[in-house]
Amino acid sequence: MVAASRLPVDQTEGPDGETEWRASPGGLVTALEPVMRAAEGAWIGWPGAAGEPPEPFDSNGMHLVSVGLSEEEVADYYEGFCNGTLWPLYHDVIAPPEFRRPWWEAYVRVNRRYAEVVATEAARGATVWVHDYQLQLVPGMVRELRADVRIGHFTHIPFPGYEIFAQLPWRRQIVRGLLGADLLGFQRQSDATNFLRACRRTAGLATRGSLVRVPDAGYDDPPADSAGRGFRRQRVAEDLASGRDVRAAAFPISIDSAAIEEIAKSPEVQARAQQIREALGKPETVLLGIDRLDYTKGILHRLNAYGEILEEGRLGPPAAVLVQIASPSRERVESYRHLRDEVEVTVGRINGDYGEVGNPPIHYLHQSYPKDELVAYYLAADVMLVTPLRDGMNLVAKEYVASRYDETGALILSEFTGAADELHAAFIINPHDIDGLKDTIVRAATVSPAEARRRMRSMRRRVLEHDVAYWAKTYLDALSKVPVRYPPAADPVG
Ligand code: F6P
Repeated sequence: MVAASRLPVDQTEGPDGETEWRASPGGLVTALEPVMRAAEGAWIGWPGAAGEPPEPFDSNGMHLVSVGLSEEEVADYYEGFCNGTLWPLYHDVIAPPEFRRPWWEAYVRVNRRYAEVVATEAARGATVWVHDYQLQLVPGMVRELRADVRIGHFTHIPFPGYEIFAQLPWRRQIVRGLLGADLLGFQRQSDATNFLRACRRTAGLATRGSLVRVPDAGYDDPPADSAGRGFRRQRVAEDLASGRDVRAAAFPISIDSAAIEEIAKSPEVQARAQQIREALGKPETVLLGIDRLDYTKGILHRLNAYGEILEEGRLGPPAAVLVQIASPSRERVESYRHLRDEVEVTVGRINGDYGEVGNPPIHYLHQSYPKDELVAYYLAADVMLVTPLRDGMNLVAKEYVASRYDETGALILSEFTGAADELHAAFIINPHDIDGLKDTIVRAATVSPAEARRRMRSMRRRVLEHDVAYWAKTYLDALSKVPVRYPPAADPVG
């Protein structure tokens, strides 16, 4: 059973205004579909709009169970606590997180609703895989309701350093919620290490390597006036005698690399890539950014660096153009609205300053596109710009690599992404270092074909071997090795 923020289908309106469901082609769904089908699995999630949830239904061999959110819960839980508190906090406070008690209460309420659905729907001895920052309390809540199930949790975004995490007024509840799981997956080793430190500091728990010892008898919080150290020393000996180990480790997520490569090889997509280059005026160099319009993605840093490159005449139209696709996201959250204004003013300023009729230096598209169209853009691009200030993984970087089956193209990649831990042959940059970023953009745009090929070949080896199926298998294998302490036959459900 999977519990995730969203269902793997999108609600659309049919020709007569009736509700229709379309499979959303995300990597997570692709990876889990075969596993879920074989296990007759269920997927628990929010359909994406406020209101009464639809009745459970089957789609693509999966049983889908909706969790409904009211208008107020969309505002307080989804836009509020998830995307106004946790998202900025976990991404290094790039935007200031807001700590509001009603938002926290909504988060607890919605997490409980998910946990209750899981507890009702899960078969005896089931494996329950909970996803991401929206559902961090669910593992603990499910464990209280159903001691027989195996519980995994995977955090798709970064887990912050303790000094940042410590700002959260509800940090202890979050740590306890996650520790309800048997296995906690993170994108990078540094995320797992940050979490282990949070366990020591907020809950006074003992850790050994990747394991946290959670005492059977429950555990008190460390006294509020201590950093937890003396308290921890005194308790470690007692805890080691009983309790269970929770493992926190890195399982870097990936994409369906073979599927992306297949799309890239299709004649229609290749023709479309050609058309895109022609529409851009057949420049020598196409630079490309594709991101959700989010302040974590470093879109402004990239635009400003490109603006200075144009000013200095190092690159520019008609020989080089930048295409920036920014897909709309979380548009009712204030910081996202503000970012959109800033990006659009910046694009307008740069095009105004350095453009000519028919030759804008930046082509800006605030739209969402289907996968085939995105792959056509990947094929059309000589240089891919991935410049986040912080990103759990960044799958766009991996998709670009997977689509470049002829081993051409250059990837510029921020060191603050999970992908940078794997794609060492990319042009690695620090997006805050504008001079370094400018030099790297120019270097990537003028790299020799031999060097480009050497780099791309190395990255492709990694992305093709470590695809999303490898990720899901590695994680589920590790979860299956967790000893079940309450055998299914014990009938804990009653
Ligand atoms: O990367 C985290 C994540 O929650 C993804 O799971 C999701 O695709 C993306 O951010 C967009 O999130 P939302 O559900 O808020 O549109």
